[in-house]
Amino acid sequence: MKTRETIQNLIPYSAGVKVPGAIKLSSNENPLGTSPKATQAMKQYLDQSFIYPDGAYSELRTRLSQHLGTQNDNLIIGNGSDEIITLLGLTYLTPNDEVILAKETFSEYLFATKIMGATPIQVPLKEGYHDLEAMEASITSSTKMIFICNPNNPTGTYWPEKDILKFLDKVPSEVLVVLDEAYNEYVRAEDYPHSVNLLNKYNNLIILRTFSKIYGLAALRVGYGISNKDIIQDIWKAKQPFNVGTLGQVAAKAALDDRDFVIQSFQSNKTGLAQLEEGLTSLGLFYYPTQANFICVNVNQDSKKIFDRMLKAGVTIRSLISFGMPEWIRITIGTEKQNLAVLKALKESLI
Ligand SMILES: Cc1ncc(COP(=O)(O)O)c(C=O)c1O
Repeated sequence: MKTRETIQNLIPYSAGVKVPGAIKLSSNENPLGTSPKATQAMKQYLDQSFIYPDGAYSELRTRLSQHLGTQNDNLIIGNGSDEIITLLGLTYLTPNDEVILAKETFSEYLFATKIMGATPIQVPLKEGYHDLEAMEASITSSTKMIFICNPNNPTGTYWPEKDILKFLDKVPSEVLVVLDEAYNEYVRAEDYPHSVNLLNKYNNLIILRTFSKIYGLAALRVGYGISNKDIIQDIWKAKQPFNVGTLGQVAAKAALDDRDFVIQSFQSNKTGLAQLEEGLTSLGLFYYPTQANFICVNVNQDSKKIFDRMLKAGVTIRSLISFGMPEWIRITIGTEKQNLAVLKALKESLI
């Protein structure tokens, strides 16, 4: 069967490896598990699966707008923020369009671009950071969309509000800027953008966030986009009627009330990061400064080999070959015990 031309060059997503019995630090999941309030809330809906979910996610959007200080019609919920990325492609991209994105970043931006037949303009990171100046210089009359991952997956680096503002000021209003903030709840930096406030000034901005990370709901697939009403209405037209299941909606709403879990997860990540930084420094390895729940480490050798050796030692991390960084790995920050195990496995693998 002949596929559409745009499908032919697509490489299926390669997910973080999951091996029974191994410590999984390959997909930036929450090592503390699922928000207990979310689990509790889902129990009340386990026998409600015969009823279609609310395709407008009214209760979740209302709770989320309280949380964010927006209106319900500034929000769209997706089957993970992955789905919102795909929906942005479906809604806006044609084969005549160019999309600017970093070269070493989350793969789904490239996927959404390519599947629509648009042209990706991949701008290499500069010392681990989005090269905002080079991205701006890449804008042409064909540019339709720009993806900024802040903090960036896989480097964990971020740009402060003043730099993001400077960048946004230079982007023509007909170009959509997608600010992916999947890891925002982990950010410690005081100068990180208050991006929701920026929506008042920029009509060409959409922010993406997710319940997969700090809220611990990755399996339920709930992410969201925050933007002005017109953009939300546009994307809404392209979505499936029931794209987020009831359990996901109920869990996400409850997770927003679980402040204890979020604070605990934030603290655990902060302590775990200090532990990993200390261990990596004593191994003499360079890593990028991270604001996320993972750390990107230069292993100075084929990272696939490091991956294989670490797997034998019972830990999965991410080799960054698929991100175009063949001598780097990404480690999700785990619990104290997991971090000790990953440091031990890494030390033994550096031969
Ligand atoms: C930067 C970034 N954006 C989006 C996602 C997708 O998250 P979700 O689970 O909400 O689809 C991820 C997942 O790892 C990510 O790293």
